[in-house]
Amino acid sequence: MAMIAKQCKDTIVTVVDLNKERIDAWNSDTLPIYEPGLLETVQCARGKNLFFSTEIDQTLKESDVIFISVNTPTKDYGSGKGKAADLRFIELCARNIAKVGGGDKIVVEKSTVPVRTAQMVKEILSEANNGYSYQVLSNPEFLAEGTAITDLENPDRVLIGGEITDEGIQAVEKVANLYAQWIDRKKIITTNLWSSELSKLTANAFLAQRISSINAISALCEATGADVDEVANAIGMDSRIGPKFLKSSVGFGGSCFQKDILNLSYLCQHFGLPEVSDYWNQVVLMNDYQKNRFVQRMMDAMFNTVSGKEIGILGFAFKKDTNDARESPAIAICLKLLEERATLRIYDPQVKKETILSALGLLANDDRITFCKSAIDATSGTHAVALLTEWEEFKSLNFNEIYSQMEKPAYFFDGRNLIEPKIIKDAGFRLYRIGKK
Ligand code: UDX
Repeated sequence: MAMIAKQCKDTIVTVVDLNKERIDAWNSDTLPIYEPGLLETVQCARGKNLFFSTEIDQTLKESDVIFISVNTPTKDYGSGKGKAADLRFIELCARNIAKVGGGDKIVVEKSTVPVRTAQMVKEILSEANNGYSYQVLSNPEFLAEGTAITDLENPDRVLIGGEITDEGIQAVEKVANLYAQWIDRKKIITTNLWSSELSKLTANAFLAQRISSINAISALCEATGADVDEVANAIGMDSRIGPKFLKSSVGFGGSCFQKDILNLSYLCQHFGLPEVSDYWNQVVLMNDYQKNRFVQRMMDAMFNTVSGKEIGILGFAFKKDTNDARESPAIAICLKLLEERATLRIYDPQVKKETILSALGLLANDDRITFCKSAIDATSGTHAVALLTEWEEFKSLNFNEIYSQMEKPAYFFDGRNLIEPKIIKDAGFRLYRIGKK
């Protein structure tokens, strides 16, 4: 929304939320999320045509176009538990829009939703019986965290789905005109509602599938002596495959991939397509296998036990340049190490202690974890280091110094293949990398 406000100076954008603390943060210079370039973008428009407010009803009433951007977590109760998307926040929004009235409106699904969610929103709005008419559109967001601003400035495409009726086409055109103020028209594609909703789930499923595919091959590389980066490079030069998203890692994380695939797989079950459901579900199973395998490799290297050993964890975010730890592979790895009775020293440049504790489901006074202010501190006195996020700052660490203050033999488990192997080996470490013997 900050980008829309920055680029469309004649449009007033008001972001509303129930949570006053969050809105206050958006109105300050300490934004609630860490994202390179975001503060500058917000500052460009805030107070001019970009506002943050808790006045939900009034804002909804006055708006012509409403983007629903609430979260759609995986259901943790009842039918579809652990797989289906929980749509209660979307439903509440739709009911609220119907309740406040105020004129004809375009309601845009920005949240990633299961196919045919728009139908639910439409039904709620059309039964409001308040004399106003509503057009429901789907406009999924494809930005990735850490590169959000450049992705928004220069997206590969913008997708807008709507009903194929005169009113639907007009509504799509209205939203397309917003994006057209900075994005080439050829990149703005329009589809029917269901195609748009399904495209978002499919894009994330395909991206995650590439990672699980290369991670599956990484296990075979470790067994055979092939090198996964060499394999990725060799296959990526085939223009039909392409080089991106082929970096083998300790597993994918983030709020989208797992959730969206589980959701896709649930939808397939629902529509009586169990084979299709199993096919996509395997992408998630492979990701779990990769995380488990990483810990198993650690155990194997360290004489089959980490009990009573201290491990330094470098990075907790699911990727670099974000303070987001949702579904981060670090969570499963730390929990498994704790289960094996290791103690942990954790350092991440952006993820807060409270976020880590809540992700691990632990209390603040759990003495098995020490939170550290630097990478050097996190490795001090440990038996092994596990590098779990590819933060740039880890590349320039002094590995000789780190090695000198660790228990011997000292192990380095590079879960991102980030550091030149020679540097780590020269320092004296026993090194483990993903997809290398
Ligand atoms: C993803 C999609 O890329 C984006 O289009 C969608 O809108 C939201 O979901 P995001 O989750 O922010 O974005 O990050 P992304 O860069 O896709 O990375 C996801 C995970 O995959 C990270 O844990 C990352 O480390 C991992 N990854 C990515 C790999 O392990 N290897 C790769 O080659 C690429």
